[in-house]
Amino acid sequence: MKEKLNILFVTPESVPFAKTGGLADVAGALPKTLAQNGHNVTVVMPYYASIPAELIKSEEPPFSMNVWMGNQEEWCLVHPKKIRKNLTYYFIDFQKYFFREGLYHNAAMQDYLDNPKRFAFLSQAAMYLCKTKQLKMDIVHAHDWQTSPALAYLKTHHWNCPYLGSAAGVLTIHNIGYQGKYPHESYDYLGFREIDFNEHVFEDFGGINLLKGGIHFADLVNTVSPSYANETLTSTYSHGLDHVLQKKEDQYIGILNGVDYTEWDPENDKLIPQKYTVKNKSGKKTCKRTLQKRFDLYEEGNMPIIGIISRMAEQKGLYLLADTIEAIVKNMRVQFAILGSGDKNLENYFGSLPKKYSGLIGSHIGYNNKLAHGIEAGADFFLMPSLYEPCGLNQIYSLRYGTLPIVRATGGLDDTVQQYDEANGEGTGFKYYDATPRAIYDTIGWAVSTYYDRPEHYQKMQTSAMKKSFSWDESAAKYEQAYQRAREIKAKHDKQ
Ligand code: ADP
Ligand code: GLC
Repeated sequence: MKEKLNILFVTPESVPFAKTGGLADVAGALPKTLAQNGHNVTVVMPYYASIPAELIKSEEPPFSMNVWMGNQEEWCLVHPKKIRKNLTYYFIDFQKYFFREGLYHNAAMQDYLDNPKRFAFLSQAAMYLCKTKQLKMDIVHAHDWQTSPALAYLKTHHWNCPYLGSAAGVLTIHNIGYQGKYPHESYDYLGFREIDFNEHVFEDFGGINLLKGGIHFADLVNTVSPSYANETLTSTYSHGLDHVLQKKEDQYIGILNGVDYTEWDPENDKLIPQKYTVKNKSGKKTCKRTLQKRFDLYEEGNMPIIGIISRMAEQKGLYLLADTIEAIVKNMRVQFAILGSGDKNLENYFGSLPKKYSGLIGSHIGYNNKLAHGIEAGADFFLMPSLYEPCGLNQIYSLRYGTLPIVRATGGLDDTVQQYDEANGEGTGFKYYDATPRAIYDTIGWAVSTYYDRPEHYQKMQTSAMKKSFSWDESAAKYEQAYQRAREIKAKHDKQ
């Protein structure tokens, strides 16, 4: 029998409580699956102002806890909530840091200047929770720059607690484009050791780099797809950290995310107008009609819709799309349904298109989960023109909804979408390589012509796509192996 582990999961976001992107999906689903597998999982995350009080209500009363940040003692409240057998969340209630309008930035998209303090505090609070409650941990699992500090605290502080000291540290990099780089001025408050402010650990061009420090202290580092793991070992994709990752050698691996099919499956999706299955896809037609109505598109059953759901960020390739989308709707019989928010220039541009191309381009600027489900179900294609994509979840959801992905062959997009073969109709989507407007234009042209001219291929691909499964069971099993590896690495290291 597999050994049951005690796992501390420290995360800045998790569904259903707070979400800005895919990290929240992962932090919601992975702990759940691990708990189902019999591990004992403790999740620590902030109690943000945006989390409705009733969501965290529980029978267990909140308690207060002190947390030392450098030489400063802070007091916070902690709300425990048992979610299911083997899975308890602890919400860190510290209004000074977490009762704000956004998770990381204000409404004008300006990052909070004290972000390093806020998330180092969260990380340290997770450590103090174990100490205060005498929780035994075998694994501390941190995510991205936000909770990287947890691994530094784990490894360098003397935990007057019989258990925490023996835990191995695992870091998951969901996106290396965000490293938590800040001026040196908050270093004392963060409470890292003086000697760790050097080029191998936290120091980066004179400032602090939280992710870099996390990589250093982790026993095992992973990112969220095998291809992205390879890409980030090169300077083109590493945002400056390729040498740091290369040093980890076989302590750096890729594990593909799973998806939560209880949330994302047209067979049981309560948020779509009509359910459908791979055997009976007729409900998808209703979903398409509803989507056309919702986005003021011409209600033509035989005109393909390309869906987009995205953070509007440079990473997602939307500037390249902006250079070619108008030519696409002028030259091809195709419609767009676009949902996203973020970068103000992109919001303004995509928000202005429906007026200019009414009936052909619909857009909704904002964050809307129900609409996201409606697009997955109602569209015929799903576009992700990312410059880089660590894993990407929407293309995987799209497969299950029979909404064929059109993607740039990078990172997790390349790992999850199988290229269309015109000779026999095999494959699950359309991939291109060059990050250029031309490549987007041509690949959309290829997809649209397949829809019109080779409908039997389109349908065959739809069926293949809907049958693919990227469940968390498989991914969680890989994390279980990774946890064991991390423990072995730590044990070996401790002996030296
Ligand atoms: P990333 O984490 O880089 O944003 P992913 O593809 O991993 O990319 O995950 C994005 C997640 O956020 C998906 O679950 C997607 O449906 C959701 N999402 C992104 N933008 C929006 C939006 N405007 N409205 C609703 N959901 C969104
Ligand atoms: C990041 C990445 C995305 C990935 C998600 C969850 O936000 O940009 O590709 O799917 O994390 O791991």
